[in-house]
Amino acid sequence: MTLKTLNLRYIYTFNYDRHHDELCKLESRQLFAEEGKDKLLFSNINVDPSISSFIKNRFEIILSSDNYSELIKKIKQKDIHVEEFKVEYLILEGDDTAYSERLQKLRDIGYSIEGESNYHAPIITYAICHYQDVWYFGILIKKNPNWLKHKKKPYSFSNSISIDIAKTLISVASKGNKKTKLLDACCGVGTIMLEACFVGFNIEGCDINWKASNHTKLNLAHFNYTANVYYSDVKDLGKKYDAAIIDLPYNLYAYSDDLIISNIIESTAKLATRLIIVSISDITDLINKTGFHISDSCNVGKSGKGKFFRKIWLCEKKIM
Ligand SMILES: C[S@@+](CC[C@H](N)C(=O)[O-])C[C@H]1O[C@@H](n2cnc3c(N)ncnc32)[C@H](O)[C@@H]1O
Repeated sequence: MTLKTLNLRYIYTFNYDRHHDELCKLESRQLFAEEGKDKLLFSNINVDPSISSFIKNRFEIILSSDNYSELIKKIKQKDIHVEEFKVEYLILEGDDTAYSERLQKLRDIGYSIEGESNYHAPIITYAICHYQDVWYFGILIKKNPNWLKHKKKPYSFSNSISIDIAKTLISVASKGNKKTKLLDACCGVGTIMLEACFVGFNIEGCDINWKASNHTKLNLAHFNYTANVYYSDVKDLGKKYDAAIIDLPYNLYAYSDDLIISNIIESTAKLATRLIIVSISDITDLINKTGFHISDSCNVGKSGKGKFFRKIWLCEKKIM
């Protein structure tokens, strides 16, 4: 069966470094129930690219044809009338169409649409792309790049997670559903909460450390986000959430590690049915004690020659 006959609605394009390969695949499995190939994925599932660190674009397929002239004919037949539009050429893996030819194709499409174009501030962006002998015409939605401003949050600390991992924890915890009620159980200075607020997720956070919880509040306020942050041990929270993220504390003394970590996981497990846990060691045994099972996991390496440094565990409540 060809991709065309599968009649899928969206093409997603991805961009990530090699050290995030596993993390991106974990996200893909949770958002789309499959992994991409050639840094792209065809799917019927509608995901906002801005919730992901790795999705670059969502291309909504309007028309397709294995014959380019046929595609242009179909666009004209569609009789599109729209103002302030732009047309882009989306280069996918294996497409070696020359630059001059790509420009000509953009003109062909521009002339097939009725209305004024607007290159700098378009209301709608159409695009054309070519993959495995099929030409596609559709609407292009790009990831909002403004999340990168969070790199300059006023308060940070050495144990803060990177913003791309933080974003992935949100997308995996929520499976892309913005109605998911989320908890950041060990919020630190709020790196994860910032990513959730940026795309409109409903999230609350707590931290046992007053300074950390206060820095989260100040970081959120700096970007004009509103979310509840509790100065509290997660065991005292007494609220319910759809999913909770636990970025476990590191650098604890060996003999107390397991006890502290175990308490945090067990307390958070009482508040949500889905947990995403970040650890620096294998915590399989601790998770198994909570009545949750590990449904997915991955390792996150450092860029460059650095060694692997984090593990991410997706845990779901066992159905008795
Ligand atoms: C690795 S840090 C989290 C970093 C955070 N994700 C960030 O990027 O800023 C772990 C946090 O867990 C908090 N913590 C430790 N035990 C806790 C508990 N029982 N309840 C809530 N927070 C706890 C610590 O104070 C620390 O801020």
